[in-house]
Amino acid sequence: MNIVKTILSPVKHFGWFKRLNAKITYEFLAKNVPAADWHFMNYGYTPNANEKPLELPDDPKLQRYSLQMYHYLASKTNLEGKTVLEVGSGRGGGARHISNYLKPASYIGMDLAQNAVDLANKLHAFPNLKFIQGSAEAIPLGDNSIDVIINVESSHAYSSVEKFLSEVKRVLKPGGYFLTVDFRDAELMDAWKNQIKNSGLEKIEEEDITAQVVQAMEEEDSVKRERIRNLNVALKWQNLFAEFAGVVGSGIHTKLKSRKRLYYRFVLRKG
Ligand SMILES: C[S@@+](CC[C@H](N)C(=O)[O-])C[C@H]1O[C@@H](n2cnc3c(N)ncnc32)[C@H](O)[C@@H]1O
Repeated sequence: MNIVKTILSPVKHFGWFKRLNAKITYEFLAKNVPAADWHFMNYGYTPNANEKPLELPDDPKLQRYSLQMYHYLASKTNLEGKTVLEVGSGRGGGARHISNYLKPASYIGMDLAQNAVDLANKLHAFPNLKFIQGSAEAIPLGDNSIDVIINVESSHAYSSVEKFLSEVKRVLKPGGYFLTVDFRDAELMDAWKNQIKNSGLEKIEEEDITAQVVQAMEEEDSVKRERIRNLNVALKWQNLFAEFAGVVGSGIHTKLKSRKRLYYRFVLRKG
């Protein structure tokens, strides 16, 4: 594992590598782990003191913290009757929750990984919801066509965040909202803030939500570990899944907790 890390270290910040890595990882996971009750791939969120608690059924299969990441981001603007695009929709759990609960007129989930799109269309069939394949850097939709764009824990994987932001600006209607959450290594956070500043979108809100993500990881830890055990895969795969899922003590949990990596939420608007 360390040899692989050493070999990949010089290239891991190159755009082409990030894109290739995302494509291979998420195509593989959707094809080889089609578990029907695994709907999310973000690290989760615990609401802050000002956010109203969300009543959810007490179902151990529900990935409540990952759902909350979507819920509190999407609640930053009123989605009722709106056209919504999600970029990087993954296995579709966030799209399912928002399209049912917050009542947009239509919701398109878009992802680079065709296998994830196929799985999401199979798992979440609702009249106002569909999933399509497409790249964040070349969104296959017309200019000024969407009211709100949602983006959860995906932009760190793009070759060019600048290209993505110019696509967001092109596709949004005037007055439309862009809601995004993701992490960056602490030394790269200023670069992301500058990309946002130079995007031509107006910044309405910027929040450091690192502590709420760490809290979610810690509160959900035993449930995550149980789910991984129940996958019934070899121990080496269980360890890999535990790392990917961000259990307590994993690389991502350790970096967020020590603030070597930060997690931010932004609300932006096209003027
Ligand atoms: C960590 S997962 C998060 C998935 C989902 N947002 C969630 O929270 O469950 C990142 C997702 O971004 C997608 N992705 C990565 N690069 C992309 C790109 N250039 N265009 C569209 N989607 C991309 C991946 O395929 C993957 O499904």
